[in-house]
Amino acid sequence: MKKVLNIYEMKDGEVKGVEVDGFPVLLIKYKGRIYAYEDRCSHQDMPISENYEVEGERITCMWHGAEFDIFSGKNLSMPAPSPIKKLNVYVDSNGDVFVEI
Ligand code: FES
Repeated sequence: MKKVLNIYEMKDGEVKGVEVDGFPVLLIKYKGRIYAYEDRCSHQDMPISENYEVEGERITCMWHGAEFDIFSGKNLSMPAPSPIKKLNVYVDSNGDVFVEI
């Protein structure tokens, strides 16, 4: 697992794109928890962190409008053909966030 940031560096509802060993990671802080995904839309591989909108429990890839569930990465609307890849996250007692690539 690789450390990506501290949980207190993100506000609730915030989205960030980070790179871990060259791998693009999408981080979403929602209701106090961090969710991590591969930062590639399942539609045309575009980085969601560069063009998104969060509304309620969904994140929309604004490149073409596909929506995904924040908790699971499940695709909720076209044109996404499949979920985005969910990554395992661990937060230690200091709030440091680690992601499994
Ligand atoms: S790349 Fe995300 S909707 Fe097309």
